[in-house]
Amino acid sequence: MKLSGRIGRIKPSATLAINAKANELKRNGVRIINFGVGEPDFDTPQNIRNAGMESISRGLTRYTAVGGINELKDAVCSTIRADYGLPCGRENVLISCGGKHALYNLFMTLLDPGDEVIVPSPYWVSYPDMINLANAKPVVVPCSEKDGFILRPEALEKAITPKTRLLILNSPSNPTGKYYGHAELKALAEVLLRHENVLVASDDIYYRILFGGRKWVSLGMVEERLRDRIFTINGVSKSYCMTGWRIGFLIGDPAVIKAATDFQSQVTSNAASISQWASVEALSGDQKPAMEMAQIFEVRCTRVMEIIAGLPDVTCAPPDGAFYVFPNFSAYFGRKFGARTINGSLDLADFLMEEGHVAVVPGEAFGEDNCIRFSYALSDEEIEQGFDAVKRALEKLS
Ligand SMILES: Cc1ncc(COP(=O)(O)O)c(C=O)c1O
Repeated sequence: MKLSGRIGRIKPSATLAINAKANELKRNGVRIINFGVGEPDFDTPQNIRNAGMESISRGLTRYTAVGGINELKDAVCSTIRADYGLPCGRENVLISCGGKHALYNLFMTLLDPGDEVIVPSPYWVSYPDMINLANAKPVVVPCSEKDGFILRPEALEKAITPKTRLLILNSPSNPTGKYYGHAELKALAEVLLRHENVLVASDDIYYRILFGGRKWVSLGMVEERLRDRIFTINGVSKSYCMTGWRIGFLIGDPAVIKAATDFQSQVTSNAASISQWASVEALSGDQKPAMEMAQIFEVRCTRVMEIIAGLPDVTCAPPDGAFYVFPNFSAYFGRKFGARTINGSLDLADFLMEEGHVAVVPGEAFGEDNCIRFSYALSDEEIEQGFDAVKRALEKLS
C-alpha cells in the first residue's frame, strides 16, 4: 500500500532494533538490565494518584475546554511565576497530551515548508522527525564534548540564515544532562538579539532535576527583550513521575497559543480530563516527593560518574541534571571480538546487549555517534550490576 511522503520522512527509531533483541533474549530467559529507559523509576506520588481518582468519583470525566481546564492553567501560571519569576496568564498557556504533543503543536503552528529550525546536537531523538513532519528543515549544529555539549554563540551565529525560524534549546538535556547556566544563556541571547526573526523553543521538561545546588535559569529569565519570542515546553511527566498521564504545557505569546489551541482542537481536542485534575495536584500540592526524587538522581549520578571514571578509555561530560549520562566510547571503535568489529555506537550497543546483557541507546540516535546514552532511572543494585557487565564486555574487545 502506498504511504504518504510525510511518513516516509520519519526515521524508524534506532531503539527498536535494540528493544527487539532485548525482548528476544528475555524470551530465552536472559535477564537484561535496561539502561534505555526514559522515565523515572518511581511511582506517581500518592496525593497525585488520589486527585486523579477523586476526579473520576466527582464525574469530571467529560470533554474539557480544548486548551485545558482553568484550574490547571492557573497552576501552570503560578509555577511559571514562582520558578521562572516571569509573568504568565491563562492566555499564555495551552495544555496538551505531554511535552511531545506541546512541541508538535508549536512546530505545526509556526513552521512553513522551507523554514529552518536549528537543532543543537546531541539532541532529543524526536526533534528532527517532528520538524520533518511539519515540512520544515532541521539544521543540526554539532556541539562538542569539550564545550560540555553546550551550543556556543559563534556556532549559533553561523547557523542562522534568512530562513531560520526557530532555535531549540533543551536544558537540562536529554541525552547529556548538561544545562545552560546564566553566562551561556546570556551569550546566546546576544546573538538572538541581532536576529529578530528567530524564535526559541525552550524544552524545559527536566528543569526540576538539577544537581550541585544549581538554580533554575532559562533564556527569558536572563534577557527580557527576548521574552516575546520564547516558547516554553514543560510538563509533569519527568518532574512528577507522570509519564503515563500525558500532560504537557506550551507557554508563550497569546496569538500563537490561540492558533496552537485551534490546531489541537482539530487533532486531539483536550488532554485527558482526569490527568489534568491530577496535574493540578502535582503542581499545587506537596512538592516533597518531587524534590526527594531529584536528590536520589543526584546521588545516583555521582556514583555512575565514579564508575565511568573507572572504565578504561571512556570520557564523560558530567551531567548537571536529568537522569542520563552520555559517555564517549569512541576509543573502542575499530576494536574486535571474534569476527565482530565495533564500527560505531550501534555496533557497540548491539555488542553490549549480546555480551553484557545490558540495553543502552546508541548515540547515533541523538546525532553523536561517539557516545552511548545510559539512563540511571534504575535501582542502585541494577546500576552496579549493569556497569559491571559493561566493564566485563568491554574487556573482551581488543
Ligand atoms: C527532551 C524531552 N522533551 C520532551 C519529552 C516529552 O515528554 P512527554 O513524555 O511529556 O511527552 C521528552 C521525553 O522523553 C524529552 O526527553
